Amino acid sequence: MSVTDPLETAARLVDVDRAIAILREGGLVALPTETVYGLGASALDRRAIAAVFATKGRPTHHPLIVHLADADRLPAFAATTDDAWRLAERFWPGPLTLVLPRGPLALDEVTGGLATVGLRVPAHPLTLSVLAGFGAGVAAPSANRFGRISPTSAAHVAAELPTVPILDGGPCAVGVESTIVDLSGDVPAVLRLGAVTPEAIAETLGRPVALRTEAAKTAGGERAVAPGQLASHYAPRARLELVPRDRLAARRAELSGAIVVLGDAELGHDAATWARSLYDALRRADATGPDVILVPTPPPGALAAAVLDRLRRAAAPR
Ligand code: TXA
Ligand code: MG
Repeated sequence: MSVTDPLETAARLVDVDRAIAILREGGLVALPTETVYGLGASALDRRAIAAVFATKGRPTHHPLIVHLADADRLPAFAATTDDAWRLAERFWPGPLTLVLPRGPLALDEVTGGLATVGLRVPAHPLTLSVLAGFGAGVAAPSANRFGRISPTSAAHVAAELPTVPILDGGPCAVGVESTIVDLSGDVPAVLRLGAVTPEAIAETLGRPVALRTEAAKTAGGERAVAPGQLASHYAPRARLELVPRDRLAARRAELSGAIVVLGDAELGHDAATWARSLYDALRRADATGPDVILVPTPPPGALAAAVLDRLRRAAAPR
């Protein structure tokens, strides 16, 4: 993974007003959120959406999340339910994406032709200003090349994507992608783990929530329930090995070659700190060109399951 020249990053920075103007002109702009940086485009502009897929190298059937300034704008993009309003009220702005039956403004290009659309109100003041000023929805996948590590700083975006202008909002406070909950079926189902836990969702809704975070097997082979849930994802270039914490020292002793260990010393002493530092640490480790990046299972905390999920995918065979 290339390390970007700070001057190159600085040359690409834009302010809130410029970011709004770019979206209005049908351009792309990288936007900070509390989870990861997104590659934003007007959700109503088919050509801008096509440019998002081309810039990421992402297959076009993978749906994009539409970002809104506030929950009041939900009905334009989706059919709402009591459950949707309850979750929006408790968790927005915040790291939760709702999957709902699509509404009039949800384009096929955004939903990948699905009958549903993913929506969220992100908790970052600069991006909320952009969303409010722009006035419409902004489709934004994570601002990385398809299959690779999501960016959690402006410098990461600059290293991932050439030429895209960037609104620098500092390092992301959460550090892993939003929780995705599908409310379009009979039973609410979590499709991607994140900072909002399945337990917190179930408690808010007052009913059980299913976990559907594994890629589903179908007659046609592997099909991703949510394509962020591909078995191999969030991947560094080096081989990543995930080991139980009590086996870390023993496994380290078995390995030879250039090994980078990422443990509590590098990532912090609780799961939330791990989540915040993980992607940056993986990028830095990768940049040294190691044979193996060795990572123990994360420490406990509300974010432990989300971190473990990302590490499993980063470690999955490619
Ligand atoms: O935290 C986040 O959600 C970040 C920031 C930028 O908001 N965005 C993000 O977007 O992670 P992306 O495109 O990298 O991942 C979005 C995930 C994909 O796995 C996609 O398949 C899923 O959301 N998704 C979007 N719409 C969906 C839908 N209608 N049904 C099921 N999954 C959906
Ligand atoms: Mg992504």
